[in-house]
Amino acid sequence: MKTHIIFGILILAIIFVGSAIASGPGKSVEYPDGELGKVIFKGDTHGIKQGMKCPDCHPKLFQMKKGSFKMTKEDHSDTTKGCGVCHNGEKAFSQSNEADCVKCHKKTEEAPASQTPTEEKKE
Ligand code: HEC
Ligand code: HEC
Ligand code: HEC
Repeated sequence: MKTHIIFGILILAIIFVGSAIASGPGKSVEYPDGELGKVIFKGDTHGIKQGMKCPDCHPKLFQMKKGSFKMTKEDHSDTTKGCGVCHNGEKAFSQSNEADCVKCHKKTEEAPASQTPTEEKKE
């Protein structure tokens, strides 16, 4: 009986630790610098449901620290590091395809009058 309680507490503890994970489900990381609009990386779209596990990204591609990852325009075509390892046009949409820029770069406010990419509903 006692061991059951201990197990219950352990499981709860794991769940609570899980909910504090920044890139896990429900969490996201924002990159506000891009001139094309900010990029939001969502844990919800990069998780267990999609077949992705922590070691697929940590620590090889990204540190577990918000803001340590930076990417310049030139880095977009590099498929050996960062987002480009998957966003190479095979595993996921490419970072070099003009039509796909807006899948990551979202203009929220003050969108130019000329062409406003329509927000797609994902999931
Ligand atoms: C598809 C890639 C990917 C997967 C899978 C992933 N992460 Fe992350 N994680 C990131 C990125 C990108 C960042 C932000 C890094 C940066 O901005 O430098 C990040 C950041 C973090 C941070 C730091 C957040 C902060 O506030 O500083 C933690 C902690 C973290 N991840 C834990 C996890 C855990 C635990 C898992 C597994 C449940 C996981 N991540 C799965 C990509 C991923
Ligand atoms: C481990 C592989 C992997 C890595 C690393 C990865 N992605 Fe993705 N990402 C995917 C897959 C798979 C999809 C969904 C497939 C598709 O739509 O082509 C996706 C979809 C997305 C989407 C569309 C869904 C949404 O959340 O709106 C965005 C935006 C995105 N990724 C941003 C990023 C950014 C930014 C990074 C780097 C910080 C990154 N991804 C790193 C695999 C990855
Ligand atoms: C998989 C997601 C993704 C896609 C697709 C993508 N980008 Fe980015 N882009 C990023 C991330 C992440 C950053 C980094 C922002 C930062 O470091 O703050 C970035 C940064 C940039 C920057 C600013 C770089 C700098 O030096 O400050 C430019 C310009 C840019 N992207 C242009 C593009 C163009 C053009 C396309 C389409 C051909 C594109 N991006 C497609 C994720 C993406």
